[in-house]
Amino acid sequence: MVAADKIAVLDFGGQYTQLIARRVRELSVYSEIFSCTHPIESILASGYKGIILSGGPSSVYEDGAPLPPKTLFDSGIPILGICYGMQAMGYLLGGHVVPAERREYGKAEVELLQGSSRLLRGVEPDANGRVTVWMSHGDTVLRPPKGFSALGTTPNCPVAAMADERRKLYAVQFHPEVVHTPQGQKVFDNFLDICDVSRTWSMAGFIDTTVEEIREKVGQGRVLCALSGGVDSSVVSVLVHRAIGDQLTCVFVDNGLLRKGEAESVDHTFRGAFKMNLIHVTASKRFLDVLRGVTDPEIKRKRIGAEFIAVFEEEARKLGEIPWLAQGTLYPDVIESVAFRGPSATIKTHHNVGGLPLKMQFKLIEPLRELFKDEVRRLGEILGLPPEIVWRQPFPGPGLAIRVLGEVTPERLEILRDADAIIQDEVRAAGFEREVWQAFAVLLPIRTVGVMGDFRTYAHVIALRAVMSQDAMTADWARLPYDLLGRISNRLSNEVQGVNRVVFDISSKPPSTIEWE
Ligand code: XMP
Repeated sequence: MVAADKIAVLDFGGQYTQLIARRVRELSVYSEIFSCTHPIESILASGYKGIILSGGPSSVYEDGAPLPPKTLFDSGIPILGICYGMQAMGYLLGGHVVPAERREYGKAEVELLQGSSRLLRGVEPDANGRVTVWMSHGDTVLRPPKGFSALGTTPNCPVAAMADERRKLYAVQFHPEVVHTPQGQKVFDNFLDICDVSRTWSMAGFIDTTVEEIREKVGQGRVLCALSGGVDSSVVSVLVHRAIGDQLTCVFVDNGLLRKGEAESVDHTFRGAFKMNLIHVTASKRFLDVLRGVTDPEIKRKRIGAEFIAVFEEEARKLGEIPWLAQGTLYPDVIESVAFRGPSATIKTHHNVGGLPLKMQFKLIEPLRELFKDEVRRLGEILGLPPEIVWRQPFPGPGLAIRVLGEVTPERLEILRDADAIIQDEVRAAGFEREVWQAFAVLLPIRTVGVMGDFRTYAHVIALRAVMSQDAMTADWARLPYDLLGRISNRLSNEVQGVNRVVFDISSKPPSTIEWE
């Protein structure tokens, strides 16, 4: 374990649960998420200094509503209930919880009540004694349980926050974890003071501890890492390299389906700047061979996946006995999901093509298992990775093959690669690279008529896809400015041979997906 003091977040299926854990970590305290179905005794026995009960979609009154055991509140550990977490606390301890007259959603003004609580210390009301917060709830605590006092109220929510200072039980109806509650971080800060935690979680500390752990774990053993050039595998390899240097060998498979300049950038960074043992396998021909004549997207995926494993295994075998494999598994991949209602937790739909070779038996090192994506990016920056890798947008394992709609040929890949480079270039120059989740080109399997000079053309169509998203589960099309769209369109038709039309994809997910195939 990385930090001595830590906070547990019990997930009741709220959409902001991960955000709660991240806010706590931003305050230099390590936090972990547990499903609300996880045995509470084991959490209590594991030395957490405080517990946060998350929001969730349920009502405390419905059949099968997820509720923690009542004994939790007698354990003496400080507890903060948020939204549903507050209702659960209010209900279990004998308060009066009712369905609100109308669902409250969005911005609200909480009027702070007389008498200060440690929870709201330093939260500054405006001239009217009000504090702006973000609400999203159906049920409301009408009367707090015995021992509690109400700390604030809104017209629609008589008890917007409550506390039993003696038992260190606190609750807020609003969401302090979202940015729309501007002073929300102060609430967490106060709760951490109440928990009396030492604030020792930091990226620098994480690096030191993890480097030590890796050294201890692998000893003199060798470690293999499949480096794709994406953020996660890049950060893993640099971290492991810092721990064990030349005991690490990275295998980078150039499948010929990468973006323009990507293979060179991987070489330049890892072999050049970081001086790593990097095996750069040029395998474009093999991948193009297995894709010949294939138009079905799922067959493309399967063939690329199988070929990747074959190439990786061949390379690994050449290297002799390597017991360890380093992988870029992140925290959202390992959190237990809350499955009692709907897709509240992160669900991974695509197995990564850079996944574990099936026939080989490796012992795993997964040093990013405790981190969120934005923490991995920060780690990458501290480890000295260049911004173009740290801020690289997600890129699918099958690469450009699922963006060349229909058959993948070298000529069509070339068109797509040139078009995609222009889009990357313009989106970056306009400052949207970090705003959008992904922005990329798709080559359509049709031709359309155009006119260039005095000549009729019958040429290719590029679709521009740009989406905003938190986790790729849902996405909305990005409202890119018209002048940016105009520049991209002009450059695509002027600079990419064989393109005479550009269309902009205005579909959200669902019902579409982010990729076209
Ligand atoms: P969709 O198209 O399903 O994509 O909305 C969601 C996210 O997953 C990426 N994606 C993939 N990643 N292998 C991957 O490693 C795949 O086969 C694959 N297909 C889609 C996509 O780029 C988006 O970020």
